[in-house]
Amino acid sequence: MSELPESAPSESELSESPVTFPPPFLWGAATSAYQIEGAVREDGRTPSIWDTFSHTPGRTAGGETGDVAVDHYHRYREDVALMAELGLNAYRFSVSWPRVQPTGRGPAVQAGLDFYRRLVDELLGAGIKPVVTLYHWDLPQELEDAGGWPERDTAYRFAEYARMVGDALGDRVEGWITLNEPWCSAFLGYASGVHAPGRTDAVASLRAAHHLNLAHGLGTSALRSAMPARNTVAVSLNSAVVRPLSQDPADLAAARRIDDLANGVFHGPMLSGAYPKTLLSATAPLTDWGHVRDGDLAAIRQPLDALGLNYYTPALVSAAPSDATGPRADGHGSAEHSPWPGADDVAFHQTPGERTEMGWTIDPTGLHELLMRYTREAPGLPLYITENGAAFDDKPDADGRVHDPERIAYLHAHLSAVRRALTDGADVRGYYLWSLLDNFEWAYGYGKRFGAVYVDYATQERTPKSSARWYAQTARTGALPPVERT
Ligand code: FCB
Repeated sequence: MSELPESAPSESELSESPVTFPPPFLWGAATSAYQIEGAVREDGRTPSIWDTFSHTPGRTAGGETGDVAVDHYHRYREDVALMAELGLNAYRFSVSWPRVQPTGRGPAVQAGLDFYRRLVDELLGAGIKPVVTLYHWDLPQELEDAGGWPERDTAYRFAEYARMVGDALGDRVEGWITLNEPWCSAFLGYASGVHAPGRTDAVASLRAAHHLNLAHGLGTSALRSAMPARNTVAVSLNSAVVRPLSQDPADLAAARRIDDLANGVFHGPMLSGAYPKTLLSATAPLTDWGHVRDGDLAAIRQPLDALGLNYYTPALVSAAPSDATGPRADGHGSAEHSPWPGADDVAFHQTPGERTEMGWTIDPTGLHELLMRYTREAPGLPLYITENGAAFDDKPDADGRVHDPERIAYLHAHLSAVRRALTDGADVRGYYLWSLLDNFEWAYGYGKRFGAVYVDYATQERTPKSSARWYAQTARTGALPPVERT
């Protein structure tokens, strides 16, 4: 390949020169349990915080819940067949904690584990690598009633659950992820309250962040002790790409503050065994971090086999008057209460450019930036994009086909950014499109469609969108097909 330009290639360059990925490369799609499974009362499953939250009036758009979702619990065979049709060689899904360990304590429920065994066997039979995320936000409600993530015991409960699932599936699942986006669990769940359990307590959110870190560390050790050594353990972070509005020292300081609260608070302890000093001082008015006990940081810093990065859009910040609060860096609803404890003097701005249906600016340069950052800061650690994708207002045409050229352009641009990062030395091993199917998009309910496959929620009929066919060709050939012109 000839020398790549510094800046993003132009549209015409993109459609003329084929962008290829050296094998082996994982071409996957990602989902999470509560967003797709449904069957919330079957086979001994008990409520998670998302069942409670979504059933609480006013919490989700239109009061929608994951009770039925896309009925994947009953249709998983059909869904694996779709993945095979899409040429995927990897699938990232999450295990529902209250399905396999109702109430978050005590013995495993075999029926729950059997569902995941059947799913994994189906995937392996189709030549698709299963990658399990242990925690994608569905804490058993009973653990929340006992205090939730702000309580230390929840981290121990997670480690027990991790061992249980590792024991049950470790013989057939090689790829493991402890937590999905602990930032959302801690700060959307306990500070801004736009996610379950919907609490708005800044101090609790910082405690939650630490206990999520501890859960990751203890869970990693528990998994390793329960599983064959060949299996790999990673975490998926929604590390924000934080950009200052100007080079003014006050704006640079604002960006630093948000970077600590979005990124350093997790990758500091996980990768380097310490919280950033600047985070500790900025949050000192809220907490002395006395909940961090001796030995915790060593327990959190476990050697990892890979790092998962979820990327949607960058954040643009500046210094602001003390009464300003802004939306979170990568969406999921604006909040009355800030998800950024100790950063009330930071303002968020919309990055210029086209936006998706979520209002998130489309900026593939952020993905390149993110991959290069971790290439520098975590040298030697293989990287995976464990989520990337976009919601658009997809609708079937008169023939029932769903044409989504915007999503194809989005995927093309972001995969091109991944390819540039590879050329620039990033060790990227795979890409998981968010998401396989349209699904329950948390507080937004079913209104935001992220799937490569369209779901008619009235009939549960699945229809691959044109982006699914485009992605299938990419997965089969390892090269990006040209962007369609409309
Ligand atoms: C991520 C979540 C995922 C989905 C996408 C759009 O933050 O991990 O479940 O909601 O955003």
